[in-house]
Formats: sequence, structure tokens, C-alpha cells
Amino acid sequence: MNSKIKLAFEKIVGTSNIITNDLNPFNTDWMNKYVGSSQIVLTPQTTVQVSQILKFCNENLLKVVPQSGNTGLVGGSVPINDEIIISLKKMNKIQEFDLNSAILTSESGVILDNLNNYLLQYKYQMPWDLGARGSCLLGGNISTNAGGLNVVKHGLLRNYILGLEVVLPNGKILNLLNKNRKDNTGTDLKQLFIGSEGTLGIITKANVLCIPIPNEKKVFFLELKSFQDVIKVLQKVKRNEQLLAFEFMEGRILYKNMHRHNGNQLPFQFQEDRYYVLIEISGQSINVDSFSMDMMEFTQEIIMNQSEKEAQFLWKLREEIAESMGKMGYVLKYDVSIPPDKFEWLVNQIYPKREGPFHVYYGHVGDGNVHINIVFEQLEDLHKEEDKIEQKLFGLVKSEGGSISAEHGIGQHKRKYMELQKGKDVLECMNEIKRLFDPNGIMNPNKLL
Ligand code: FAD
Ligand code: MLT
Ligand code: ZN
Repeated sequence: MNSKIKLAFEKIVGTSNIITNDLNPFNTDWMNKYVGSSQIVLTPQTTVQVSQILKFCNENLLKVVPQSGNTGLVGGSVPINDEIIISLKKMNKIQEFDLNSAILTSESGVILDNLNNYLLQYKYQMPWDLGARGSCLLGGNISTNAGGLNVVKHGLLRNYILGLEVVLPNGKILNLLNKNRKDNTGTDLKQLFIGSEGTLGIITKANVLCIPIPNEKKVFFLELKSFQDVIKVLQKVKRNEQLLAFEFMEGRILYKNMHRHNGNQLPFQFQEDRYYVLIEISGQSINVDSFSMDMMEFTQEIIMNQSEKEAQFLWKLREEIAESMGKMGYVLKYDVSIPPDKFEWLVNQIYPKREGPFHVYYGHVGDGNVHINIVFEQLEDLHKEEDKIEQKLFGLVKSEGGSISAEHGIGQHKRKYMELQKGKDVLECMNEIKRLFDPNGIMNPNKLL
């Protein structure tokens, strides 16, 4: 790192907010698949510092990567080369929660779990939830329009963001903060930044509409004989507005993970050729009997939690899948949207008779989002196979009217398939918007677009 540049950053953020040693955790993604070679991480503590950093970088044509919790699964939060990493983790002040409007105002660097802990005193919670809740930050969630485990009931993150503060690549601070539920004053600029994966600017603050913590909830774990039965249960329970989550897991991964729970009471002796569903219902008062009756039409193998600890354990079986796959090797991870009744068909198209490397499918059946994970022992083997798999998989997804990314985003992983997904005209329009905000191309280069 050029000493003049380092000196300029020291003037802006001070030496205590510059890291130049042990940068591995910042340069490497959660799956150890993407590794950059940044020489410097800046940890600004105020919006003005973010603005001064970006202004300097823009004037000197220095490329930057915004980073929050670095839990992203598409290589979006790590540099490709030696880009400057701007970590938002020190912008972690929660400003206020307004009980009349249920609107939270916070800096963008707060961990999702911490936001929920803060909201507990008001009996409110964040409207989205995901397995990375202990590490991911508000700004990272907004920049990826994160999906997660409650979308069936609450819908997508983007509907709950009422306002944002964003720093543009030229250093200008765009005040899009807003504490009104209703604001009908023209083009909704903040929407451009939600899900744009740090390619247009850096989100520094947000107003979020929060939701009340429900009085009651119940978790069910079901064993089913076929994937068609999974869909039948889905059809039956989806109409019910108390349905919070409907998550599907293949027996082959739960069976493989059984050794992780020696001594713990598993809901079933998992079998490789069975299909498992986790259903959570929640509300101010819930009707457990009516749900149980609906499910019993399709299976008698139903476990219902008796305590909060049991509920957490049932969820753990679902949430640990991502981590357990990572422990097996290098994982090709997909998060496509496709009609739920096509999930099994899709996997069979990629691996007829389910032969080939170890692979599983699981995910958010309730909102038409399947995760397909394929494990390779060596990273080179993964890279040898990925083009072949993706051309087929994304081609099928497109022909079924689906999306190549339901929730993780595009990052560096799926960039070359953007034209297939969007078409030339839409992609060109997105590129024009990028050029408007970031004419010098300094913001998260070679990601998404
Ligand atoms: P990062 O990974 O640091 O960044 C993500 C992207 O946003 C990058 O492109 C980065 O450059 C950009 N960015 C970060 N902060 C800012 C900012 N302040 N301003 C502008 N751009 C910024 N995702 C889901 O959608 N649903 C899930 O259910 C889900 N489950 C997960 C479970 C596990 C165990 C793990 C490891 C990941 C999971 N993810 C899931 C993926 C990931 O957690 C989400 O994408 C999350 O929203 C990323 O947040 P982060 O703070 O880690 O952001
Ligand atoms: C999940 O649903 O568990 C997350 O999106 C992570 C993953 O895809 O494994
Ligand atoms: Zn997911």
C-alpha cells in the first residue's frame, strides 16, 4: 500500500481504524471459495468518515469493497484483487425505536441478533430472520435484500425498509431517511440500493418497520414418504395466515448429520430416502389442533416441540445444514426460485438417478426457493464442473420462469448469467444506473454487473 494513500486514510479515520495485518478473515469468504488480496481494511465510525473515504477513493480511482458481516454466499463481500475493504462493523449504534410507529432507526453496522435483543424490551422484533443472525449486519442484509426463514408470513425485507442514508461513490451523503409509513413523493430512490450488493453506494443508516413478537408459537417436524407429500402438506397449510415458516430437508442430509447429535433426542431416526419438513406457526393466539389435523392427512410421523429448548433444537437441525455441508468440502451452492412442485424434478435433471458427487436439496419450500448444494473435495474439481452444471441448471430455471437467485444475490459467482436472467435491455438499464452513480467504477467492481 502506497504510503501517501495510507497517510490520507489516517487523516480521515485515524490509525486505530486502519487494519493492515492479518487480513485473511476480511479477504476470504464464509465458504473459503473466494480469496482476495486487499492490503488494507478501513473501519470508519461515522457517515462523514465514509463520505471522506469514498471521495478520496473516487478522486484517486481507488476501488473499494463494502463489507458487513462477511457471511454472504456469492463472494460479494470480499475483494477480487487488492480493492480497499470498507468494513461497517464499527458503525454499530442503534439510535431509537419509536413505539407509536414501530420504526427502528439504526446505523447499518449492527448485528441482526443485537437488533433483536434491543427490540425485546419493546416486545418487537426484526421482520426477517436467517441462520447468519449472529454475524450478519443490518447493512449487509439490506444490500442483499436478504430472504430467510420467515418470508412465507412476513414477505421480503425490501417491504420493511422505510428509509436509508447512503454515501455515494463521489462522497455525497444521500439523505433518504424517512419515518413515515406513507411517503408518496416520486421515485423511491432507496429501492435502488436495497439488493444492489454494494455496487451503487454504501448504506450507513436505515429506518426499519418492525413487527410485534407473537405471544405463541409452535414448531412441528414431519417425516414424509415422498416429495409429492411435501407439496400436498404445503397446499394444505399455506392458506393459514399463522404459518410462519415451511422448510424442507432431504433425508440424506439429516441422516448424514445424525452423528452431530449423539445423546440428544432426535425427532426421528432419520432415513436417507425420506423427506422432512419443519413448520412453524405463530400468532397472538394459535390453533395447534387445526394445523395438526391438516398435517395428519398425510403422515402420522409428526413431532411438536414441548419447550422453547426443543423448538430451538428442531430449528438447529435445519439451520446447521449450511455449516455441515461446508465441513464436507467445497460447496457449489444454489438458491434458485422455481415453483415448489418442480424442486425434485430440477435436481433429477441435473443428477439423473441422483448419481454424481454428494448433493442435497433443501430450503424454503414455502416461498418457492430451493437450495441445491453439491460438495467437492477439491476446489479445482468444483471449478471444473461449475460451468456445465450452471448452464444446465440456470437454463432450466429460466425456462420454468424462475430466478437464478432467490436470496443470496449474484456477487462474483453468478455474474455471467445475469444476461440470461434479465435479458439485454434490462441489463443495459441496470448498467446505465451503475454508470450514473459510479462513473469511475470504484464500487465493488466486477460484482453483480
Ligand atoms: P456481507 O456478506 O458482508 O455483504 C454482502 C453484500 O452486501 C456484499 O456485496 C457487500 O459488498 C454488500 N454490503 C455489505 N454491507 C454494505 C453496506 N453497508 N452498504 C452497501 N453494501 C454493503 N441469506 C439469505 O438471504 N437467506 C438466508 O436464509 C441465509 N442464511 C444464511 C445462513 C448462513 C449460515 C450463512 C453463512 C449465510 C446465510 N445467508 C442467507 C447469506 C448472508 O447471510 C446474507 O446474504 C446476509 O444478508 C449478508 O449479510 P452480511 O452482513 O454478512 O453482509
Ligand atoms: C439457508 O437457507 O440455510 C441459507 O440460505 C444458507 C444456505 O443456502 O445453505
Ligand atoms: Zn436460504
